[in-house]
Amino acid sequence: MTILVLNGPNLSRLGKREPSIYGKRTLSEIEQGLIEAFKEVKVEFFQSEHEGALIEKLFEAEDGGRVQGVVMNAGALTHTSIALRDAIASLRLPVVEVHLSNIFAREPFRRHSLISEVCIGVISGFGETSYHLGIQALVAHLQKSVR
Ligand code: DQA
Repeated sequence: MTILVLNGPNLSRLGKREPSIYGKRTLSEIEQGLIEAFKEVKVEFFQSEHEGALIEKLFEAEDGGRVQGVVMNAGALTHTSIALRDAIASLRLPVVEVHLSNIFAREPFRRHSLISEVCIGVISGFGETSYHLGIQALVAHLQKSVR
């Protein structure tokens, strides 16, 4: 099973960026933790500051036939991007939305996600554990759908 973990704008700055909210670990440390935790799953990673690059990656994953599902932290695009929402809605691949912080307990503009409705579920507020829970939930979903 191959899962794509996609990260959007500013997540390349993890470790340096507002550590009291997002933690002290860098994105590559978090990614390494996922590789070590999910030995039975092939986990691929992509991060971009650009909406279009993320959308292209989703289409590549869908069309390439190698990836079975996506765990996505869209960063601020979560709250603003109709284009990203439409791209996710067009996919057959299941997408799990994840956030390090609890977006529902933060500023009002973060409390609404444009992508939740087109994702299979949302995990928010557990720091890097949100990514682990996202992969676990996605794997369980995929295993259920092949049974
Ligand atoms: C975030 C929450 C977003 O509101 C914010 O813009 C981010 C990170 C999170 O992981 O908590 O960039 O997605």
